[in-house]
Amino acid sequence: MNQHRAHWSLDPQVAYLNHGSFGAVPRVVESAQRELQQLMEANPNLFFRTTLPPLMRAARASVAAWLGVSPDLFAFVPNASQGVITAASALVTRPRSQIVATSLGYGGVTLGLAEIARRTQSTLRIAEIGFTSGVQNVDDIADSVFAALTSETNLVVLDQVTSETASLMPIEQIVRTIRRVAPQARIVIDGAHSAGMLTPILPPDFDVWVGNFHKWLCAPRASAGLVCHTPLVAELLTPLAPSWGFEDGFPASFDWQGTSDYTSYLATPHAIEFHNTFNSDARDTHNRGVIDEVARQLHDSWGTSPDVPTEMFCPWMRLVRLPLARQLNKQQCDALVLKASNDLKTETMLMSPGDSTYLRLSAHIYNEVDDFMSLKRLPELAKNI
Ligand SMILES: Cc1ncc(COP(=O)(O)O)c(C=O)c1O
Repeated sequence: MNQHRAHWSLDPQVAYLNHGSFGAVPRVVESAQRELQQLMEANPNLFFRTTLPPLMRAARASVAAWLGVSPDLFAFVPNASQGVITAASALVTRPRSQIVATSLGYGGVTLGLAEIARRTQSTLRIAEIGFTSGVQNVDDIADSVFAALTSETNLVVLDQVTSETASLMPIEQIVRTIRRVAPQARIVIDGAHSAGMLTPILPPDFDVWVGNFHKWLCAPRASAGLVCHTPLVAELLTPLAPSWGFEDGFPASFDWQGTSDYTSYLATPHAIEFHNTFNSDARDTHNRGVIDEVARQLHDSWGTSPDVPTEMFCPWMRLVRLPLARQLNKQQCDALVLKASNDLKTETMLMSPGDSTYLRLSAHIYNEVDDFMSLKRLPELAKNI
């Protein structure tokens, strides 16, 4: 077993190969959160009224400093889904607005955007980025977004790393296009996979950035952040549930969203501390190396090849196409994931973008190439699905 695996309480009988979906929390971070929960349970009245507010401000300042932004421009949100929808709800208030997203966007977020469009009698335009015969090249992606923009576009939502296709989007190029063609549009970046994996985490230009800490940074669930690029944008940002502190404006207005377990936010600085115990170049080289080698071996074994251009490979995740005669639907993918869990003792992720079915590889510092080798049997298991 890999030397770092002992830092996690992951089941030693299972090869955990899907960090990308829900993350995994290291033991020291789990115990930091548990201590905070004990403090909460020892005296809930004192905790919520007196202890929590300064702890929240301190956690906010610490995470903002790690992201390299002013604490006045940073707020905690539970997860990327709620963060992006919070930003979109705050920025799309006028009727008959126009929202643009891409066909590679996260399905849950796209559903949320469609509902915001419905409530405001607005339109949601989807920039089509083909995946049927592989993702197009970087220029084609910026062109697809360009084609969806109009002089009426109020909001564009873009993923830094796409969920289904594990692609690194050419964000800087797309944002430059938006600023030129639709300068009135606000840009919300869905950076669900960025914190912990990408350097730098934040792109140079955006209006609102939202990212999860409970994925690659290994913070407890649920913990994510929302960054406003300027004080002007911060003035527009309101929480999903306006409540106590609302009149104080961003970011204090986000601190209290009703009674909840806020210890995942308070423990996020501990996840940063754990993250910083590793040499970042060595971690990046390890994770990329594992992904490259596993993808090479699976492609060799299955006779398939990459569908995403190399420059769009995200660092620590990769899609590998399964050699199946037919595409699996969502239920069949889930059934095969469960079969791999039972028969191979591996936790994986399968998806079917375009017209094929893919394994989505994830590698963190606790993974090694050997952990993935039983997955060569996936096509054989798929026969009984
Ligand atoms: C691009 C993107 N956005 C949003 C999400 C949703 O993240 P969460 O469930 O933490 O809100 C994901 C999850 O993988 C994602 O990849």
